[in-house]
Amino acid sequence: MANPTTLIIGANSEIAKALALQTVNKSNNGLIVITRDPSFYLQPLFRNSKVITLADYQEYSINEAIDSIKENKATLITNVFICHGLLHNQHITPEKRLQAFDVDSFTEVMNANTITPMLWLKNLVPYLSGKETCKVVIFSARVGSIADNKIGGWYSYRASKAATNMLLKTAAIELARTAKNIKLISFHPGTTDSPLSKPFQKNVPEGKLFTSEFVASQLFAIVDNSELDGEVSFVDWQGKSIPW
Ligand SMILES: NC(=O)c1ccc[n+]([C@@H]2O[C@H](COP(=O)([O-])OP(=O)(O)OC[C@H]3O[C@@H](n4cnc5c(N)ncnc54)[C@H](OP(=O)(O)O)[C@@H]3O)[C@@H](O)[C@H]2O)c1
Repeated sequence: MANPTTLIIGANSEIAKALALQTVNKSNNGLIVITRDPSFYLQPLFRNSKVITLADYQEYSINEAIDSIKENKATLITNVFICHGLLHNQHITPEKRLQAFDVDSFTEVMNANTITPMLWLKNLVPYLSGKETCKVVIFSARVGSIADNKIGGWYSYRASKAATNMLLKTAAIELARTAKNIKLISFHPGTTDSPLSKPFQKNVPEGKLFTSEFVASQLFAIVDNSELDGEVSFVDWQGKSIPW
């Protein structure tokens, strides 16, 4: 008998943790999480969840993780959340000026925000395609909108999210022919309290810094209401379309 299951990738993200908690608290869905740091998922609440730990996000590691999901033939993945996002770390600061553009930083950001999500999508699609509806959410950002770029800055992060959006647009055209049961959603959570936004929170207007719990509830409603229309939706936390 099929066991409807939610798959959360990059599961140590703050928003991913809220999605995982709401999955086990509110739905009858099974849960599979994939992350490099599984410590959050050691709590008893997740005793019935499958926790897959990866050393890295190289393509062979991604395929090993997918193979271990396939082992349980009863698993039916109905929702996928791909949550990777890198804006800053010990050696990367988002560029304010063109002169700050750096090859190594750009490559690292592209790798985390664009290449890794696309490798998941590439390798998951053959497994997910079939008769049952599957919604796949890839975390994007409004700053990835070329049309919406009015203030500049953050060259690498913007470019990585814009590239992800273009790749998703292209994938949606192919999937509309070859995997009609898969709906793609490119999602902007809004500024959400997490390690990613921490250094930039002081400029956020009152009431505009969201909790990960709020964003997760909004996202579940968006996913539930989305339809198999053969397109990728680029939407914010309200479900409102963002210009590409
Ligand atoms: N927070 C915001 O204000 C905000 C606003 C707009 C868009 N977003 C987007 O929302 C998503 C989730 O953000 P968050 O705030 O929840 O982030 P977060 O708590 O900082 O989590 C970071 C996530 O990125 C993954 N990651 C970090 N470095 C990586 C690397 N080098 N390669 C591959 N994966 C890497 C982590 O994977 P592990 O689980 O393996 O550690 C984790 O899933 C991201 O795509 C982010 O760009 C966030």
